[in-house]
Amino acid sequence: MTQKKLYFGTNLKMYQGIASTVRFLTDIKAIVPPKAYERFELFVIPSFTALDRAGQLLLDTPILLGAQNISWAEQGQFTGEISASMLKEVGAVIAEIGHSERRHVLHETDEEENAKVLCALRNGLRPLLCIGETEQQKEDKITAEVLRSQLKLGLRGVSPEEVSRLLIAYEPVWAIGVSGKPATKEYAEQVHYLLRQTLAELFGSAYAAQIPLLYGGSVTPTNAAELIMQPHIDGLFVGRSAWSAEGFTDLLQIALAAVNEKLNEEDCL
Ligand code: PGA
Repeated sequence: MTQKKLYFGTNLKMYQGIASTVRFLTDIKAIVPPKAYERFELFVIPSFTALDRAGQLLLDTPILLGAQNISWAEQGQFTGEISASMLKEVGAVIAEIGHSERRHVLHETDEEENAKVLCALRNGLRPLLCIGETEQQKEDKITAEVLRSQLKLGLRGVSPEEVSRLLIAYEPVWAIGVSGKPATKEYAEQVHYLLRQTLAELFGSAYAAQIPLLYGGSVTPTNAAELIMQPHIDGLFVGRSAWSAEGFTDLLQIALAAVNEKLNEEDCL
């Protein structure tokens, strides 16, 4: 396992308002063990209305603040959209793009995700591009084709110099949410390897190696350790299991312990 920083974060979806987000972040700040920051970049992606308060609360911490969506345009006649500069104004540094719910419920396309990725990069934000195949696509055995095209279309026009600011989350649609079943560690690792190869085709292997590849979809205390220990999984992107400060911290501790154990084993070799 490499010693590069791993990622651990949560998207609060459309559940937490301002008061509960403030409670969540205040508690996390108090209970996340300082050692976790050495190994992990932590991030939280609250609702839009909670971003401002969250940004103020996180100012004195290394926890990165993200937004759940971003407009593809800098400004203009786009009622209801939120621009990169508005997000930066409240302290966001990450823009989540193309979560499965945006693709499959709100029917966003790869072209739209790409425009958002480019807009985030132009404006100094880190795009967190989410990709994943549906259950049907998995059954049809076209997972590789689907993911490769989501990556290639989503990252079209990104320059090698911008690569170090990218984050990618592999979140199989069939693994997300209450009715999801998590990917096995073998399946997730196999896919992450494929993604790494695809990124190498796009940017060259040295640049591809810099891009954090996170796994998301029914991450729980049961599977967090085995997932984070996979060679091509660079982080965990968690929903339900991390929506309480205790849940967030417990999962993080499990991941930290697993990573430390693996490093110790490697040191003994
Ligand atoms: P889940 O959500 O962990 O609740 O399955 C993951 C996600 O939607 O990113």
